[in-house]
Amino acid sequence: MTATTLAGKVAVITGATSGIGLAVARELHSHGMRLVLNARSQDRLTQVQKELSAATAAGDVGDPALPKRLLETALETYGRCDVVLNNAGLMESGPIASIDIDKVCAMARVNVEGAYRVAYTFIKHFHAQGSGHLVNISSVLGTKVRPTAGAYAGTKYALEALSEALRLELAGTPIAVTCIEPGLVLTELHRDFPVHPMHSMNVQHPLQPEDIARCVTFALTQPVHVRIPRLMVLPGEHQI
Ligand SMILES: NC(=O)c1ccc[n+]([C@@H]2O[C@H](COP(=O)([O-])OP(=O)(O)OC[C@H]3O[C@@H](n4cnc5c(N)ncnc54)[C@H](OP(=O)(O)O)[C@@H]3O)[C@@H](O)[C@H]2O)c1
Repeated sequence: MTATTLAGKVAVITGATSGIGLAVARELHSHGMRLVLNARSQDRLTQVQKELSAATAAGDVGDPALPKRLLETALETYGRCDVVLNNAGLMESGPIASIDIDKVCAMARVNVEGAYRVAYTFIKHFHAQGSGHLVNISSVLGTKVRPTAGAYAGTKYALEALSEALRLELAGTPIAVTCIEPGLVLTELHRDFPVHPMHSMNVQHPLQPEDIARCVTFALTQPVHVRIPRLMVLPGEHQI
């Protein structure tokens, strides 16, 4: 069976101006894909837009109107959409009894509500088109919990449930769903942490965003009869 080719296909990526989303955008661009990129900061989007000749749609994934706008941008610019990457996310950390509950709810709005709304909109389009691939960027913390990470892990468990339910509901259709579960990746996600997880978790060599981008390409390029529902990727030193 031949591998699926990416050249000429269209991908929508949320949170595409930094870290994992940016690395995936660069990787898919290098394979000839055409891109619609999203993030909140228009300035950073404009920089990436120039580098990757991409279309953009600035906005907050927590905005219920955003998914439709992302899909419309893809259809108006390229006439189709083959892949959507639910990547935008943030991490609030702390014990459940003392974490800032309003920040937790804001995180849930982006990590859970935003991702579910994107899936809700794009799966309908994939059904109508007769093809499509949804990639959810979960976390190893979507599969296990540790103290101070319960709130974040809860949002990623929700993404795992979404992915697994969709896998079952879409079995026998041409639509694929992949959930990627990275361990510690060196990005801007932890920039406000008082102690970087590299130090608190004693990981000297964290993953690089490009490591995750290669995994996304691996999932997207399988022959049509193959599904990669879950892919956990960890730094070699990770004791989690
Ligand atoms: N880094 C890790 O160790 C790690 C491990 C496992 C899973 N993950 C997951 O990987 C995903 C990407 O994280 P990252 O580490 O690459 O983080 P990052 O470097 O902070 O990048 C986050 C990206 O998302 C955008 N973004 C943030 N909030 C947004 C919102 N409400 N609406 C739209 N865009 C938004 C940011 O741009 P703007 O600020 O301009 O919007 C930026 O482009 C997240 O879902 C995270 O949970 C990360």
